[in-house]
Amino acid sequence: MKKTLLISSLIIISVLLFEAYHENIGNEWYRYQKKYKDTITKLAKTKKERDIAASYEIKMRQIVLPDLRRVDRCISCHVGIEDPRMAGMEQPLAAHPGDTLEIHELETIGCTVCHDGQGRAITVKEAHAVNISFWEKPMLKEPFLQSNCFRCHNMDELPQLAEFHEGRKIFFSHGCLGCHKLKGKGGQLGPDLTNIADANIHLKHPVNKNLVDQFYHNLNVAYIYESVKEPKAQPEVTAMPDFHFSEEEIRALTVFLKSLSKRAVPASYLAQKREGHQPEDFQGEALFRKYCVACHGIDAKGGVKNINYVKKTVPALNTLAERMFLTEPEDANKVAELLEKGVDITNMSPQLDVPNRGRVLAQYRAIRNVIEKGSIAGKEDPKGPEPLLHMPSWAEGLTRKDIDSIISCLIKLYPWDEKKSEENNE
Ligand code: HEC
Ligand code: HEC
Ligand code: HEC
Ligand code: HEC
Ligand code: HEC
Repeated sequence: MKKTLLISSLIIISVLLFEAYHENIGNEWYRYQKKYKDTITKLAKTKKERDIAASYEIKMRQIVLPDLRRVDRCISCHVGIEDPRMAGMEQPLAAHPGDTLEIHELETIGCTVCHDGQGRAITVKEAHAVNISFWEKPMLKEPFLQSNCFRCHNMDELPQLAEFHEGRKIFFSHGCLGCHKLKGKGGQLGPDLTNIADANIHLKHPVNKNLVDQFYHNLNVAYIYESVKEPKAQPEVTAMPDFHFSEEEIRALTVFLKSLSKRAVPASYLAQKREGHQPEDFQGEALFRKYCVACHGIDAKGGVKNINYVKKTVPALNTLAERMFLTEPEDANKVAELLEKGVDITNMSPQLDVPNRGRVLAQYRAIRNVIEKGSIAGKEDPKGPEPLLHMPSWAEGLTRKDIDSIISCLIKLYPWDEKKSEENNE
């Protein structure tokens, strides 16, 4: 009896010892902190530094961030992160590069709000979460790290983050919003992109394995990249055009799209808006590039192919002036300016003193009606496939003033010079 008791206690003790070892000494972080302690002991020159090194306690370290609902234990291994003496050391002991941790207070910001990864984990593999397919946000590498800055910073800020700003510019000038919605504004043909960086869509669509490897097993980044680079990689028949972007442009777009996620940070974390930032450009031309250019073509010249569509290609819109019976450039400019100023011309404003007033107004109403209500593209061969591109309805996405300023811009795009020379040749 005594013997069994002895043996079982021995077993329990060894299990406990093993556990204790496993919890502490056997841990990766224990080794790194030991190495850190050895390093600062060696580096210590003054008595004070020697005292600090001697009393350095090896223990699990963490930053608790209740408002961000995070616990970041990265500093259990990255112990030298705020220690300038550790600049240039081997990871994970090195000090943080740049002045990031001087600008942002480590105790209130932690690491994962910028880097992603799994804050609570205490092994390298699990913390970085690279190659762990179930973790939604594996640690990001540059340039994709830039995307997370805009969880707190306004999109007009941080001009030094070049890729992000390049991607943002492309996104808002290539008509992506003609088919996609962003925070309620945009077309309906493609999926809403408001939270594309959070989405788990990659679970539904298998992503090319090479891309997954290339993006450090970040399925979300790989998925976004693939969607832009090869729209046909999703369903083969898709309305999403291939824009033939360069590699840099695709990467830049991916950085921008990766920032589109639910704002999970409380208001107290947001960087204040700075004075003097430019209000967003809502002029007609910018709106056209934002919402219409992908289907109606550059400078509204049309020509974008539409499968099995009666008119073959999406109609040009640079001839609106002619359709509105505005045959002289002066009259066209007059109407364009009224619309741009936000004058409601439908109530027969006396300012609208152009010939054929009634017909001009009727056409204006018809055009605005198509824009507000949308229009289904008719089939050329009734037995053939559905045309991929339809005119979306913009009644919800755009205000009356927005639509007027787009029409104003389209009226001004009329190629008067070409028409004049055609007439002369006749
Ligand atoms: C268990 C120890 C450990 C933990 C916990 C840990 N790291 Fe690391 N980290 C390392 C080691 C070791 C390296 C260097 C080798 C490597 O890159 O895997 C490293 C490297 C890095 C690098 C540089 C990667 C590169 O590409 O050069 C970054 C950034 C980083 N860690 C961030 C984090 C963040 C953020 C966390 C918390 C979510 C974290 N680490 C948690 C051990 C750790
Ligand atoms: C405000 C955002 C932000 C926070 C917070 C932040 N980092 Fe970073 N970190 C960056 C950026 C940006 C870079 C790369 C920039 C550079 O090289 O200067 C970087 C670089 C690094 C690197 C070096 C990567 C390499 O390739 O050499 C490591 C390691 C790292 N961070 C770890 C951490 C850890 C650990 C924490 C938390 C204790 C943390 N960071 C907190 C933004 C942040
Ligand atoms: C969790 C929120 C948060 C994240 C994420 C964050 N910042 Fe900040 N950042 C702040 C706050 C708050 C300030 C202080 C702003 C102020 O004074 O209004 C700030 C200030 C700054 C400043 C100095 C002021 C300025 O605007 O020039 C820089 C530079 C900066 N951040 C860069 C970055 C970069 C780069 C990243 C991404 C790697 C980043 N921040 C991520 C919250 C954040
Ligand atoms: C003519 C319409 C159209 C335009 C313009 C368009 N897209 Fe798309 N896009 C789609 C459709 C439709 C899909 C869905 C793919 C499918 O299932 O056919 C899609 C899918 C995507 C996806 C994947 C989204 C998801 O949730 O699966 C991304 C990312 C994307 N588009 C980005 C862009 C960007 C960036 C631009 C501008 C450069 C753009 N799109 C322009 C129609 C369009
Ligand atoms: C997804 C592609 C797509 C987008 C985005 C789009 N359109 Fe269209 N639009 C079409 C198609 C296709 C037609 C032709 C419909 C038909 O034949 O009935 C059309 C027709 C029109 C017409 C009528 C042209 C005519 O010849 O009768 C106007 C005006 C128009 N669009 C304006 C706009 C404006 C303004 C925007 C941006 C706010 C826009 N469209 C965005 C596809 C699009």
